[in-house]
Amino acid sequence: MQKRIVLKNCGLIDSKSIDSYLRRGGFAALEKAQKFMTPEQAIEEVSASGLLGRGGAGFPCGLKWKIAREQRSDEKYIICNADEGEVGTFKDRYILENDPFTLIEAIAISGWAIGAGKAFIYLRAEYHRLFDRLLNAINQAGRKGFLNHLDIELREGAGAYMCGEESGLMNSIEGLRGEARYKPPFPPQKGLWGKPTVINNVETLMNIPQIILNGSSWFKAMGTARSKGTKVFSVSGDVEKPGVYELELGSRLSELVCDLASAREIKMVQVGGACGRIIPVELIDTPLAYETVLGSGAVTVFNQTRDVIDVMHRNMKFLAEESCGRCTPCRDGSEAMLEILGRLARGEGAGEDIGALEDLSSVMTLSALCGLGQTAPMPVLDTLKYFRKEYESRVEQSIFLRTIG
Ligand SMILES: Cc1cc2nc3c(=O)[nH]c(=O)nc-3n(C[C@H](O)[C@H](O)[C@H](O)COP(=O)(O)O)c2cc1C
Repeated sequence: MQKRIVLKNCGLIDSKSIDSYLRRGGFAALEKAQKFMTPEQAIEEVSASGLLGRGGAGFPCGLKWKIAREQRSDEKYIICNADEGEVGTFKDRYILENDPFTLIEAIAISGWAIGAGKAFIYLRAEYHRLFDRLLNAINQAGRKGFLNHLDIELREGAGAYMCGEESGLMNSIEGLRGEARYKPPFPPQKGLWGKPTVINNVETLMNIPQIILNGSSWFKAMGTARSKGTKVFSVSGDVEKPGVYELELGSRLSELVCDLASAREIKMVQVGGACGRIIPVELIDTPLAYETVLGSGAVTVFNQTRDVIDVMHRNMKFLAEESCGRCTPCRDGSEAMLEILGRLARGEGAGEDIGALEDLSSVMTLSALCGLGQTAPMPVLDTLKYFRKEYESRVEQSIFLRTIG
């Protein structure tokens, strides 16, 4: 069953009118925070809620805010990551289209809490159509006096997957190439232009007003031991009802893809986008939680007609193309994996290919500079675990064909 917390206003307000949002209690959380709480108390409430980042990495939101709050600096920044470049992810787009005001209110709260005077919304280039809608929401909130403490600027993304990764994103805002930065220092200590910066995903921020209004205990009552609240998923692939669904964390993958999205004859599901985990149909009851499998919220279903190696080859093609190229393990490792997967997909594999894929995976996972290179081999490793026979028979077939031909 869906539980709409983040999506509670979607379809029920006019996304172009702040009055419509105000009629549903909009900006009451900002007012409550500013009138009845100190910034430290608001941060404590967010920390106590257990809210983890919804952009993929699952970092505790309150901790990020606390670190940024504690830094001494003449300027601090909030960045809302609306780049949404992850393959199969379209939940932030749905939120931005249907409820931009909650996001603006959340950014206003976070800016006030950490002591930032400037915020950026980094909007995926392909979401150009949403630019005016967001600008309208910012302007209306400003005219009503809700943004007196914070200047919110909209920036259009650079059209690269890597610009959704937080350090690439900051480079992009600064006008540099969208490449990964070395960490530490982490953004809450030293981020945009070297100043303390909190970067949060759209969906993470959407939870803030309700945590402030209803309290951390209300939020914590939903979910599992480590995964509190709900999660918004974008489901696509071999399903009858693709779309955006919100479920309590801990709900089963089968509920999402079979009951809600009407998937049939499933072979496997990829959870978390191009670098996401592969779940074979035998494990379809896996709970959707940070303890097990999660990521950005992209859920792509593959049915029995799909060829695992072909899927992995196309997946790696995307990742190799999108590697920023700054570190060798990701730049060269993804190209080498692509070459091997291409050979296997064409029926030209060799006996050592499977071992080579495993070796390259461990080098990339251990030594790549950012999340892209570190997690790019994950789907391949998962398919090697669950569908190894398909790889082995492809190699055997290739050797046989070479022998007779
Ligand atoms: C290659 C790559 C792409 C990413 N793309 C996005 C993105 O489009 N949106 C997003 O919110 N986070 C993305 N992330 C995660 C961000 O680096 C960062 O963890 C996130 O914005 C932090 O916000 P959160 O703590 O609220 O999740 C990406 C990470 C990687 C490695």
